[in-house]
Amino acid sequence: MTVVLHTPPHEPGPPLTLRPWAEEDIPDLIDAYRDPVMRQWTRSHVDDERTARRWIDTQERGWSEGTRLSFAVLEPEADRARLVANVVVKGVTVGGASAEVGYWTTRAARGRGIAGRALEVVTIWAFAARGLRTLRLLHQVDNQASCRVAQKCGYALEAVLPPLSPYPRDGHLHARHAPQVPPA
Ligand SMILES: CC(C)(COP(=O)(O)OP(=O)(O)OC[C@H]1O[C@@H](n2cnc3c(N)ncnc32)[C@H](O)[C@@H]1OP(=O)(O)O)[C@@H](O)C(=O)NCCC(=O)NCCS
Repeated sequence: MTVVLHTPPHEPGPPLTLRPWAEEDIPDLIDAYRDPVMRQWTRSHVDDERTARRWIDTQERGWSEGTRLSFAVLEPEADRARLVANVVVKGVTVGGASAEVGYWTTRAARGRGIAGRALEVVTIWAFAARGLRTLRLLHQVDNQASCRVAQKCGYALEAVLPPLSPYPRDGHLHARHAPQVPPA
């Protein structure tokens, strides 16, 4: 079943729709990866139609195997929904209680709190619908925008990690834990 998520209706800001990536997103995906900031901070590179198709294949395989649950985040525009972000829950294992989240926003969408709003929706869903108890978030120490998103979204800083190839600098490990279920 296709998972489609929405930001809460009364939340300030434009309503966001989150749905699995699809082939129709290829032109917007190629466009998003033209941004040097994106290429600086993310590991996967999309350069053309072939690499974009491979990237989409990876997302589709992730959903079918249940290991990588990624969402294209869309904002309504006058004529169509516009791609503004990607949020992923990765490293999901059968019966596992923890996984890692990742995200990026398109260059044009930055600075409006989109990443945090989309991450919040996915976090709540991952806890409630996927039974995960802990979500980890990793970023390089000098990626201050990502650090702010983590803080604003309730992912507390838990550790500073040494550099790990291919990342040349220390990393921040943030985590958010599912709410405790009150005893029956
Ligand atoms: C990180 C990223 C997803 C943030 O998305 P966003 O939707 O623009 O997030 P926000 O609008 O909440 O802005 C981020 C915060 O970082 C701050 N910020 C942005 N650039 C910054 C910089 N160079 N230095 C310090 N703070 C910065 C903003 O002021 C904002 O903080 P505030 O809410 O306290 O004012 C986006 O910058 C991005 O896609 N970067 C490239 C990919 C990436 O780094 N992904 C994460 C990998 S771990």
